Amino acid sequence: MTTDWGAEAARRLTRLAACSEPGPGVTRLPFTPEHRAALDLLTGWMQQAGLVPSLDDAGTLVGRLEGPEGAGTFYLGSHQDSVREGGAYDGIMGVVLPILALEKLRQEGVTLPFAVEVLAFADEEGVRFPTALIGSRALAGTFDPAVLDMTDADGIPLRAALTGFGLDPDRIPELQRPRQAALGYLEAHIEQGPVLEAEGEALGAVTAICGIERHQITVTGETGHAGTLPMQGRRDALVGAAALVTEVNRLARATPELRGTVGALTVQPNVVNAVPREVRMTAEFRAPQDATREAAGAALHRFAATLAERHRLTIDIARSYAQPAQPCDPALSDSLRAAIRAGGGSGRALPSGATHDASAMADLCPIAMLFLRCRDGISHNPREYAAPADLGRGVAVLAALLTRL
Ligand code: GLV
Ligand code: MN
Ligand code: MN
Repeated sequence: MTTDWGAEAARRLTRLAACSEPGPGVTRLPFTPEHRAALDLLTGWMQQAGLVPSLDDAGTLVGRLEGPEGAGTFYLGSHQDSVREGGAYDGIMGVVLPILALEKLRQEGVTLPFAVEVLAFADEEGVRFPTALIGSRALAGTFDPAVLDMTDADGIPLRAALTGFGLDPDRIPELQRPRQAALGYLEAHIEQGPVLEAEGEALGAVTAICGIERHQITVTGETGHAGTLPMQGRRDALVGAAALVTEVNRLARATPELRGTVGALTVQPNVVNAVPREVRMTAEFRAPQDATREAAGAALHRFAATLAERHRLTIDIARSYAQPAQPCDPALSDSLRAAIRAGGGSGRALPSGATHDASAMADLCPIAMLFLRCRDGISHNPREYAAPADLGRGVAVLAALLTRL
C-alpha cells in the first residue's frame, strides 16, 4: 500500500492544532502544557520514522538519524510555537514534513550518506518573551544568556520557564554545534504571502530572509480638558503619533520591497475627554536589502525631529532591535530548485518578508528555505491553510533533495 504523504501531513497537523490554548485558531506558546503535548506527538512520529528523539536544554526537540562516522549532519526543521490565535501551519508544518520525508525514504529503503536531525524549535515567534530564536541561536552559538532574565507578561523569567519545563538553562551554551560538521539547514514553511498562489505554483525557494529593525517611540505632549483647551496651541501626543504612523506607511509604500508597520500603541491618559499626554508606540521596517531598511529608519528619525519641533512635542525614538537580511545559500537553493523542478514546479525564487529560524541557523551553516503556497496568502490567522496535495509535494521535494545532496 502506498502512503498518501500529503493526507498524512494534514492529519498530523490537525492533531497538533489541538495542542492549543482554548479560543480561536492555535495558541501554543513555548514551555507550556500545549508545547509539551505537541512534543509528545512529535516524539512518537520521530520514532516511527526511525529517528532518535531527545529534548535539548533550549527546549528544541531533536530527532536524529545517525549517519556514517565523520560524515556530518544535515538539519531540517522549524518552530513548534504559534502566535496567539494563529494557524495550524506556521512553523509546525516545517517539522511535520521532514519527519514524513524521512519516513518515506525509510519505506523506500534509502540510506543517506550523512546524519540528519529534524529540529522542532521551542520559540520563534517571540510572543511569550521579548526575545526569539532561542533554540536556533543556541545551535549556532549566538545565544545571549542575558535574555534568560527577560520576563513574560506574568513576570515569569525565561530562566524559570525553562527550568519549569525540566531544562537546564546554564547548559544552553553547550548546545553549539561544530561548524565543520554542519552540512546545511533546510526549513519548509508556508509562504505567508500571495505570490505562489497567484502564479499557480505549489512550491518556491527563498532567495533571502528580510532584515528587520524595530524602533521604540515615546511622544510626549500635554494633557488638558477636551472641551475648554483651544485647538490652537494644543500639544496633543496622539496627533503627533498619528503623523508618525502615516509616515511609516508612506515610506513603505514609496519604497519597493520595504514593509513598514506600527503594530503597538498605548495612549495616556486614554480617556474620552482629555487631550492625550503620552503615546508609546513601535515602528518596524523590513526589507531584503539592509540599506533600504536602514535608510527608512534614518528617515523616520529625521521626520520625528521635525515633527517634534513643529508640534512642540518631545519625541524619543530609539532603534531597539535590528536583524540583518540573511541570503539563502546559492548552491543549496539551486539544489532545492532543481528538486522542485523535478517534481513539476518552475522552481520560482522569492524573498521572505517573515523571519525564520533559518536566519539564525545561517550563522552555523548554509541555509535554504522551501515555501509552500497557502490559501489567500493568509497567515498569523486561524484561517491559515495549505492543501494536502501541496503538503505531499513538499514531502516529496524534501525527500528528493536529501538524496541529491
Ligand atoms: C515572525 O514570524 C516574524 O516574521 O515576525
Ligand atoms: Mn509566524
Ligand atoms: Mn514561522
